[in-house]
Amino acid sequence: MTSLFTEIDHVAIAVNDLDAAIAWYADVFGADVTHREVVESDGVEEALVRVADSYIQLLTPTRDDSPVAKYLAKRGEGLHHIAYRVADCAAALEIVKESGARVIDNVPRPGSRNTTVAFIHPQAGFSTLIELVQEND
Ligand code: CO
Repeated sequence: MTSLFTEIDHVAIAVNDLDAAIAWYADVFGADVTHREVVESDGVEEALVRVADSYIQLLTPTRDDSPVAKYLAKRGEGLHHIAYRVADCAAALEIVKESGARVIDNVPRPGSRNTTVAFIHPQAGFSTLIELVQEND
């Protein structure tokens, strides 16, 4: 079987202070933010730092009931999820579901920067929250 993955889309890091995290990546690594977006449906604001054809996604909650707020309260700052880029999110999600893996999103939904995304439960992925990302241009 050919891999469903075409690229690491992003590595997401949950932070308390988005501006401080952005400044640290810029100061230390010279790595600048190429995209910043509030995703109201998820209650998060993200800043994307481009690395080749992938991103580091700095993630902070915009409200107390956001899943990322709960994550920060429980586990503190750190690695939140890894996102694999796929050609067809719906098709990839079906394959994951057929494997019996527990998913968070039963159907794909819109993500930031005009993507289509779906999350797989960390219980299925060795305690790692996995996101499938399809870029739409
Ligand atoms: Co993500």
